Amino acid sequence: MEKRSQWGTRLGFLLAAMGSAIGLGNIWRFPATAYANGGGAFFIPYLFALITAGIPMLIMEYTIGHKYRSSAPRAFKRISNGMEWIGWWQVAISFVISTYYPIIISWASMYTYFSFTQAWGADTEAFFFDDFLTITDPGVFGSMVPNVLYPLLIIWVFIFIILFRGVKKGIELANKIFIPLLIICFVMIVIRALTLPGALTGLNAFFQPDWSALANGSVWVAAYGQIFFSLSIAFAIMITFSSYLPKKSDITNNAFITGFANSSFELLAGIGVFAALGFMANQTSQPVSEVVDGGIGLAFVVFPEIISQMPASAFFGVLFFGSLVLAGLSSMVSISETYIAGLQEKFNISRRTAVIIGTCAALLVSLLYANQSGVFLLDTVDYFINNYGVALVGLIELVAIAWFAREINKLKEHANSVSDILIGSWWNVALCVITPVVLGYMMIQNLRTDLTSQYEDYPIEFLFNYGWMVALGAMVLGVFMTMKKWPEDK
Ligand code: ALA
Repeated sequence: MEKRSQWGTRLGFLLAAMGSAIGLGNIWRFPATAYANGGGAFFIPYLFALITAGIPMLIMEYTIGHKYRSSAPRAFKRISNGMEWIGWWQVAISFVISTYYPIIISWASMYTYFSFTQAWGADTEAFFFDDFLTITDPGVFGSMVPNVLYPLLIIWVFIFIILFRGVKKGIELANKIFIPLLIICFVMIVIRALTLPGALTGLNAFFQPDWSALANGSVWVAAYGQIFFSLSIAFAIMITFSSYLPKKSDITNNAFITGFANSSFELLAGIGVFAALGFMANQTSQPVSEVVDGGIGLAFVVFPEIISQMPASAFFGVLFFGSLVLAGLSSMVSISETYIAGLQEKFNISRRTAVIIGTCAALLVSLLYANQSGVFLLDTVDYFINNYGVALVGLIELVAIAWFAREINKLKEHANSVSDILIGSWWNVALCVITPVVLGYMMIQNLRTDLTSQYEDYPIEFLFNYGWMVALGAMVLGVFMTMKKWPEDK
């Protein structure tokens, strides 16, 4: 058996964990989510979710990885035999996410290149959907789109090299370069955006509190959803990453640093994005509410328009899309590491063999999104795997650990034995009561919405096949993987 990989330094681990957390979710998900859910008032449920779910679960996952020193499935199995499937389910969810995440990185890398000439022209929406992606209708799989396929293959080569070089020389080294570079680029974007005319209007719109939103359950659900996705919780990532920590490592402190660094970046992204939106509103004499968008629309339709209207467009464009590429790559590497670690341990193969098998399998599936209908597929899979993958497995992970295995106090003891900050009973309350209740409520709300309406009005059959079935498939795959014995049990 290969010796277990280990981070070179504490900073290396922290940068890798931050690299995982800081991703597309921070840049394009947070600003629009905050705006749509009460603006300035959103910070209350957001901070509540961070303190009751984000940081406590991060401490829990770091402790599991550190205590059991193995990939997520084996760590869960070591807690209790019947829990291995939860680890594989999380790994399967990460696998699914790792099939579409690089597609977005490829779009962003092409847009970095387009920034030099603002190749998107005046109608950025038509350019993105018709000229760049040459879309067909949802479910009408046309041919492969070369604009997406070629950069995708290059991105995969990058990901492969980083993972193949290993934890210390690959993931740690990449993050030591990516994260400082990302922060420098993003700070430059924010400073530039803040000095544009109209920036203040944008910030006012972003921070303007709508206190009535706090009475709305869906606003609290949105805050928890954001925290889970953004902190990479219940993705199997943080368990895997902390399993590479040396025995003497301060777990609690590391969790606080990761959580606060991620939220600081999120806030910075909100300020930068809304300052830029304020500028756009100013240029086009519209209210901010008319120009705001989230996700794909924000990055690939609204931002190109903003970039074209700015002085030194090319420079700002390269900074913005380059940041998306950097943030995306560091998260992507962490997402893929989950199945590499799982495969390596379960099949007793070398890390390098696991990297080859894992990345090739994910690459093959990712080709599905490089066809003309890929953007609809991506949108659907992303929506369902987050709502019925990440959020559901998070709930089940907590219930299994806190209520069934009654492991919380043992984990607390372990975390306290190695950490400077000692965790007290607030941690038990957060994990045993508050978070499961909120996540349970979230699940009921999501089900009510998705069973009574069609997401984005996509055809029912399309949603069934690529939404519900993919989310369910990840769970079934989790159970299926437990059928094979571990090398040590043979
Ligand atoms: N945590 C990663 C993100 O925010 C997955 O995109």
